[in-house]
Amino acid sequence: MRLDIQNVSKRYNYKKYGLKEYSLSIEKGILGLLGPNGAGKSTLLKMIATISKPSEGIILLNKNNVIKDPNYMRKQLGYLPQDFGVYPNLNAYEFLSYMAALKGIGGNQLNQKINFLLEGLNLIEVAKKPIGNYSGGMKQRIGIAQALLNNPKIVLFDEPTVGLDPEERVRFRNLISELANDCIVILSSHIVSDIDTIADEVAIMKEGRLLSQGTQKTIVDTVKGKVFETIIAKEDIHNFANNHIVLNTIRKKDKITVRHISETGYGQHTPCTATLEDAYLYTTKK
Ligand SMILES: Nc1ncnc2c1ncn2[C@@H]1O[C@H](COP(=O)(O)OP(=O)(O)O)[C@@H](O)[C@H]1O
Ligand SMILES: [Mg+2]
Repeated sequence: MRLDIQNVSKRYNYKKYGLKEYSLSIEKGILGLLGPNGAGKSTLLKMIATISKPSEGIILLNKNNVIKDPNYMRKQLGYLPQDFGVYPNLNAYEFLSYMAALKGIGGNQLNQKINFLLEGLNLIEVAKKPIGNYSGGMKQRIGIAQALLNNPKIVLFDEPTVGLDPEERVRFRNLISELANDCIVILSSHIVSDIDTIADEVAIMKEGRLLSQGTQKTIVDTVKGKVFETIIAKEDIHNFANNHIVLNTIRKKDKITVRHISETGYGQHTPCTATLEDAYLYTTKK
């Protein structure tokens, strides 16, 4: 599997771009799309899913232009939109059977597949209750299940971990790791910890542009040896922030522990182990 996004822009109106001159390529594995709200994550995923068309540029799946031939993508695609909606009166079995019918999936294997997904997403016990009574996290898991019904080769999850509790996140992660053996999986989030335990590669984006892409290690290495913590007096924070790239602050009484990037590390700074969060904040702030 290979996905190539080449010079793609999405223009919503005369002055508003959702995505600008965006290029990215991936082969099999899990790609985490990381960016603050408004970065263009959903815009990008919708275009890959062939729900919307780029204003410029092309998208290729295994060298096939999916803007000209959207069915080539759709046949192999699983997609969880950010604003995924359910039919509240249907139970999980009915809803997934319905979604399967829309996707043209049937046969003997279908019930087995539905049970497998409900099991993996911990929904078996509630599967006969109407989805309208489910919690946000349960609805989200139904959304994840419907995306996987057709054994997709390319799976797009737009903010999949919203509403999931820590235990559900672990289950989701396990399911995705199993899935990702010979597929492309792209998941978006604005929360670093949702991505860092699961993604092979990370793409950091902001304001419609790709800022960096690489393995977690490559991205973390961009700030390696430059992350420090310093304890300063509360009143010194403004001055400090003017002269340093501040990543994070923790207040304790009249002192502040400041985590920051420094090229030199001079003064009373304690060196820290760089994390993906540090690299993300550095890349999106600078
Ligand atoms: N239908 C639309 N019409 C106009 N602007 C839009 C539309 N959809 C998204 N945008 C704008 O495009 C930018 C990217 O949005 P989006 O892709 O939803 O970002 P993200 O998913 O990263 O939060 C934002 O500035 C958003 O306001
Ligand atoms: Mg979004």
